[in-house]
Amino acid sequence: MIRTDVLVIGSGAAGLLFALHCAAQGKSVMLATKGTAGESNSAWAQGGVAAALDLEEDSPTAHLSDTLAAGAGLCDEAAAAIVASEAPQRVEELVRLGVAFDFGGSGALDLTREAAHSAARVAHAADATGRAITSTLVSRALRHPNVTVLERATAVELIVDDRGCRGAWLLVHDRLVAVIAGSATALATGGSGRLFARTTNPPGATADGLPLALQAGAVLADLEFVQFHPTALALAGAPALLVSEAARGEGGILVDAAGRRFCFDADPRGELAARDVVARAIYKQLQRDPAGGVRLDLRPIGTPDAIRARFPNIAAACARFGIDIGTTPIPVSPAAHYHMGGIRTDLWGRTALPGLYAIGECACTGLHGANRLASNSLAECLVFAARAADDVHAGTAEGFDSGDPSAPPAHVESPDAIAPIASLLWDSAGVERERELLRRAVAALDGFAVERRPVSRAALEARAVLAAGLLIARAALMREESRGSHYRSDFPERDDAHWRARILWSASGQSFEPVAAPTPIS
Ligand code: FAD
Ligand code: SIN
Repeated sequence: MIRTDVLVIGSGAAGLLFALHCAAQGKSVMLATKGTAGESNSAWAQGGVAAALDLEEDSPTAHLSDTLAAGAGLCDEAAAAIVASEAPQRVEELVRLGVAFDFGGSGALDLTREAAHSAARVAHAADATGRAITSTLVSRALRHPNVTVLERATAVELIVDDRGCRGAWLLVHDRLVAVIAGSATALATGGSGRLFARTTNPPGATADGLPLALQAGAVLADLEFVQFHPTALALAGAPALLVSEAARGEGGILVDAAGRRFCFDADPRGELAARDVVARAIYKQLQRDPAGGVRLDLRPIGTPDAIRARFPNIAAACARFGIDIGTTPIPVSPAAHYHMGGIRTDLWGRTALPGLYAIGECACTGLHGANRLASNSLAECLVFAARAADDVHAGTAEGFDSGDPSAPPAHVESPDAIAPIASLLWDSAGVERERELLRRAVAALDGFAVERRPVSRAALEARAVLAAGLLIARAALMREESRGSHYRSDFPERDDAHWRARILWSASGQSFEPVAAPTPIS
């Protein structure tokens, strides 16, 4: 058994910054992660971090307004206001910590524009912002005397007693180890992209935190809201690599086989409409002309050299598949990218279970509502990591320690592979949804074959994919309207009269949380 003040599960942007803030406040921190410390969705982030940093052209109020518009009436306004006002401090902190953001000639951060943002407000490090952030934070965590980084440590079960969460059982290599956290346990386990057959996410994005939290007594919310990124590489045999939204923000255009910019048929903002709008426009264009495809043409941005220099990682990734992004339009189509839903928290990252925090993509602060504005995820990770650490420091997570926990079983009930579940969810709960397909998916997932297997990372991930996938399909079936990323072809309109509410899931069942109508912003 290991004892620590704070246990953090997950080494993405959220877990790393939370660990560093808790450590700076004098806590001993165990940072456990199922791969290496550098493996996370955060490390793959391209576009950047949204923050109103240029106060001549932008403001936190404008950032808030864009966030609420994208969220389609389901944002938690208080969470959105907090992120809009605190994100600039967090970006400035990253600069101080040594993250190699791009700076312009004037010496100020170079800010780019992304879809549905009314100003250029995305701080970036070329097209590999996530790698720049995580490599800096990982090296800081590894050097910090109060932080112990435990790699290849997969969370199996949270340890709970009648006062709340007091740590977790981890599978460390092939041994079950209990970590008892005196002050707080935080889930920072990231997203759910791997639940879908086509995704921009790396292999570890298997929604592990959701069933762990639910089983321990926390509440999940907004699970039906999965964001599909419009532009992932679409080449037979190639992974769905992301082609950053910044490419459209800087002038890239989407064209059909005849070279026509079809996005304007769906929205006057064309390629810069909200993500769900552009994703659906591409999806429908591909239904109309599957053989013709859709291409992202970057040539309007500048010379071939300028394009390759601005997007060096995308250039290198596409080059592996024979595409020179400086001269050749890129075949693209939507892919599962981000989960707006997650473990319901308050404005300090606290879940319904005392002692348990959730931060980053696995959390549902309500910031994103029904659809996330580009580059608001890293902003949320950083802002809520700092707030949750402040809350731990303030001592609302009361220190406690009781007897030794009993070990979880050495076997889990899990399906033998993720792929069939991911295909089912892609076909039924993807860009476009409809009752009959969802109903059949729920029935199939409910009765999905599981077997008793020795506990292992793969078995735990497959168990999580099945449990979270079933809840996503149930939630998508239940929400009989279209809103943000959730599009039901049988209920194509938004229905505020019945559905301005979150669907909540707890161990005891399902309920609704009404969401207040947005306050007009002057
Ligand atoms: P992650 O970074 O995903 O980290 C989760 C961590 O938890 C990982 O280390 C994982 O190994 C670990 N973990 C998971 N389960 C367990 C378990 N059971 N036990 C132990 N450890 C576990 N957002 C933006 O704002 N701007 C962008 O430019 C941007 N670009 C993106 C590009 C791509 C290709 C992708 C996939 C996403 C992008 N996003 C972007 C979204 C953003 O990167 C993520 O939402 C964000 O990084 C999530 O951070 P996180 O710390 O919550 O989780
Ligand atoms: C991108 O670079 O397009 C991803 C940005 C995001 O997901 O916020």
